Amino acid sequence: MKSYPAGQEPEWLAGAPPIPGPGLEVTTPPVMAGGAWPSLEAIAAEVAGCRKCPLCEGRTNAVPGEGNPRAALMVVGEGPGEQEDLSGRPFVGRAGELLDKILAAIDLPRPEVYIANVVKCRPPRNRAPLPDERAACMPYLHRQIALVRPRVLLALGATAAEALLGVRQTLGSLRLKVHTLDAIPLVVTYHPAALLRNPNWKRPAWDDVRIARQLVDAES
Ligand code: URA
Repeated sequence: MKSYPAGQEPEWLAGAPPIPGPGLEVTTPPVMAGGAWPSLEAIAAEVAGCRKCPLCEGRTNAVPGEGNPRAALMVVGEGPGEQEDLSGRPFVGRAGELLDKILAAIDLPRPEVYIANVVKCRPPRNRAPLPDERAACMPYLHRQIALVRPRVLLALGATAAEALLGVRQTLGSLRLKVHTLDAIPLVVTYHPAALLRNPNWKRPAWDDVRIARQLVDAES
């Protein structure tokens, strides 16, 4: 664990919870490894023309993901909303503004992290992606994770957590544990859109992201 000189601890660390114990240990299913794409750019090009599930019919733009290809932290959301579909960029709507603030508060501003979603095309009326849509899209995400190989993964909301961990469990039961995906520590927290709906979850979410942030330090 990184130790900061006395008096130079970052603000986010004050009162942060200790790193919790281990949770699920998951390895990427070989069939999902999607090893074919040599780069993040190759994935983005494939996603742009992807027709593997019906979500392609309704898209304005596919949203492959973006950020630092050598990010220490990779953030995974559910899928594009309206603003993301229009712009082709992840988390640019209201939830994205909140995510930007959260990332800045842990001294990992947005350009330093990598941001991707479980599905790369907007589901109609922002519904959760269906199991078949998720399954069709997960090879892209798995390959993005393998290429970025972040020190820590942060899953935003139940869809991201379930898709990455391959389980169907409540968000509450998946929080406050350090899971691993292919040996990469993975922390689960609330989706920023849920925080906008229910501000009572902001405090626990702040604890979760500070756990993830400590893990970034721990893994460095
Ligand atoms: N919600 C998500 O899960 N992803 C986005 O990119 C935007 C909103």
